[in-house]
Amino acid sequence: MYETSLSALLPPLRILILGNGHVAQAFLPLLASRSEWLGRESGIRPVITGIGSRSRGLYIHLDGIDADLLAREQDPLRWLSSAGTRVENFEAFIQAGKRAGASLFIELTTLNPQDGQPAIRHIRKALEAGMNVITANKGPVAYAQGELQSLARRHDVQFRFESAVMDGLPLINMAEFTLPAVGVQSFKAMLNSTSTLVLHMIEQGYSRDEAILKAQQIGVAEADPWYDLDGWDAVMKTTILANTLLEGKLTPQMVEREGIRDLTSDEICAAALAGSPYRLVSQAHCKHGVLFAEVRPRRISSDDTLHMGKGTTGVISIETEAMGTITLVEHEPALMQTAYGILSDLITIQRQRNLMRPTIRRSYGLRS
Ligand SMILES: NC(=O)c1ccc[n+]([C@@H]2O[C@H](COP(=O)([O-])OP(=O)(O)OC[C@H]3O[C@@H](n4cnc5c(N)ncnc54)[C@H](OP(=O)(O)O)[C@@H]3O)[C@@H](O)[C@H]2O)c1
Repeated sequence: MYETSLSALLPPLRILILGNGHVAQAFLPLLASRSEWLGRESGIRPVITGIGSRSRGLYIHLDGIDADLLAREQDPLRWLSSAGTRVENFEAFIQAGKRAGASLFIELTTLNPQDGQPAIRHIRKALEAGMNVITANKGPVAYAQGELQSLARRHDVQFRFESAVMDGLPLINMAEFTLPAVGVQSFKAMLNSTSTLVLHMIEQGYSRDEAILKAQQIGVAEADPWYDLDGWDAVMKTTILANTLLEGKLTPQMVEREGIRDLTSDEICAAALAGSPYRLVSQAHCKHGVLFAEVRPRRISSDDTLHMGKGTTGVISIETEAMGTITLVEHEPALMQTAYGILSDLITIQRQRNLMRPTIRRSYGLRS
């Protein structure tokens, strides 16, 4: 067991968190519960330097507070608002956070599906200030992944977004770290849990309206479910995956889209009875150097790798040259998985920083 007194001597990893909603509130206790592990394995002590929300304001604590202490507070943002300093706007939040030593910015604000703003501006500012950035927000990744990754490289920091597509499923990090040069040729996936759940409930005899209401009651569908059911959420995720796995340069507008709005209950039930139910499927492939991506309802036969997608379970099947077909299934994801995706990005960033240290030492001829 790591001694608390010893962990207090570890160098702090100072963190700014923008957004204090469901994901942020699930992430902080998870981070706190892994503080001892982070000390032992990565040699750092996670410290929260600032938290902000749109309606409650932006707060910086110059000394920072250990994540495991802050997570014990009933309302961590309220604690920071009384112990820290309020700043007027986002620019001041980043500048004050930087002066206090923050090196990691976690962007967890609301998705803007129209253009990814203001999250793109938030992430730009943090990267320009020399901070590593993690986001679970699809908007900035779908609309500005290339630009933000180039900016991160220029500033010698990282921009990571494992949680943006399939919560914490190790998909983007798996492709980057364990399947380099594998030659991804295409993927197909069920990426939107609201659509899968609503189709599944209609197959079980609910009307479309009842299915939507039930999906809202269990917290899967939004108040306006049509962003999901018309395929927009899947389009954002498909854009990110096509750009990440197939090295594309797509924007969401370039992904062909058809939702499940026009499917009648009779069609949905008949397809399920025949053993090949409808699901909202994302697909992308490269042909003659051109990347093509689409989202549309497709019938899934029983021998299809996507067939296990029921309820809120998500599935992705990736065709590769060197490893054949790889299928990942995310069984009924919850907030914890999203929080874990952020934690895994944090660990990835810290590991790479630790790897850099001996290299820098060697290149300067310093002793380890
Ligand atoms: N929930 C999930 O399971 C899940 C899974 C994967 C990815 N995500 C993504 O993760 C992000 C966060 O999700 P969530 O469920 O935590 O959302 P949420 O509960 O709606 O919380 C969003 C937070 O962002 C804050 N915010 C919005 N605009 C802001 C701005 N301009 N400046 C400062 N704060 C701002 C909100 O502040 P106020 O409340 O004060 O307005 C709120 O605290 C979203 O982009 C979402 O799409 C969520």
